[in-house]
Amino acid sequence: MYDSDPWTAIELARAHFETLTRLRDAGKKETAISRKITEISGRPCKRSTVRWLFEEGNLERMAREASQAAPVAPLEPLQAPQDRSPITDAEEPLSELLARRMGETRRKIKKEAARVKVCKMPAEPFALAFFGDPHLDDPGCRWDLLMRDVKACKQQGIYCVSVGDHQNHWIGRLAKLYAGQGTTASEGWRLAEWFLGNADDSAGLDWLIAVGGNHDAWSHSLGFDPYATLCRDSVKYYDDAEVRLRLTFEDCEPLTLLVRHDFPGRSWFHASHGPAKAAMLDHEADILAAGHLHSWAILQQEVSGGRCPVALRLRGYKHADHFARERGFLEQEHGQGAILVIDPRAYGPGRVSVFWNMEAGAAYLSALRAPKK
Ligand SMILES: [Fe+2]
Repeated sequence: MYDSDPWTAIELARAHFETLTRLRDAGKKETAISRKITEISGRPCKRSTVRWLFEEGNLERMAREASQAAPVAPLEPLQAPQDRSPITDAEEPLSELLARRMGETRRKIKKEAARVKVCKMPAEPFALAFFGDPHLDDPGCRWDLLMRDVKACKQQGIYCVSVGDHQNHWIGRLAKLYAGQGTTASEGWRLAEWFLGNADDSAGLDWLIAVGGNHDAWSHSLGFDPYATLCRDSVKYYDDAEVRLRLTFEDCEPLTLLVRHDFPGRSWFHASHGPAKAAMLDHEADILAAGHLHSWAILQQEVSGGRCPVALRLRGYKHADHFARERGFLEQEHGQGAILVIDPRAYGPGRVSVFWNMEAGAAYLSALRAPKK
């Protein structure tokens, strides 16, 4: 095996003119001559090249042309690599690649397991205020209702939960909908910071949980979720998909929250079918909340183990919804948000009291927390 290209006719004539002439004059055959050249040069010499050079004075003509051409350094035959290790060393050894992959999988599984959050709470009545999709930059956002609910929730012992779709974030073919929206992208972010942030001029809510909605996901860029940054210091538990939070109390049963923008499962009969189905299948969730459909419903029923999970879907604050009109969906009037007043010391279905009127829920909590006379 040779690692160099065969001699071309002109190279051969220039480099081995005398040898070719001598062997030809000695009556050697073309095959023998090509073998001899190959042997002495270490470079393959084709019989067809030798034959062509011996035809019609080609050898003499090629030698003449070669002598007139600029001198060219003779080609050194390429050395076959004796050791392939330099190429192999340039790649990560397979054993290290496998170890690295297994390590990453271990860390990923560990991270998933750590998604279940635990928060110790005082064993006293408190409330969770669930805000449905606000779509703050949409012209149909009912600011009158949102401001009313924000005001009602600025009270000691009320912890807020957002189920996502904080802005429209139109992308792709939906970007045409910016034609009907006066809020700019930067104004939308200012409104989101007002709602979820904790600056002096923010809404001033005590955020426990926020999850991202499908609209919010459209704001992500590679490796970056702007809401994770926005919520870092103001929301205790943020996730772009789901928050499972176990609230623990001294001498009381824990209470587990499962918050998502949506749960799989639809029913014509009940907008809370998705979270209600999850409530029956889940082993521990006591309150399951979602938004997304812009319709509201609640279902509480006893499941195995005597648990009485509350499954609710919030309607959200976006009204005059073009999409709902386009698809023929019923646009509901109520259910933008809800307050769930929780008495951790209670047992059974009465442990959670649901108020679709947030002001009424806040008032009930105040009464429950008031010192007994
Ligand atoms: Fe939405």
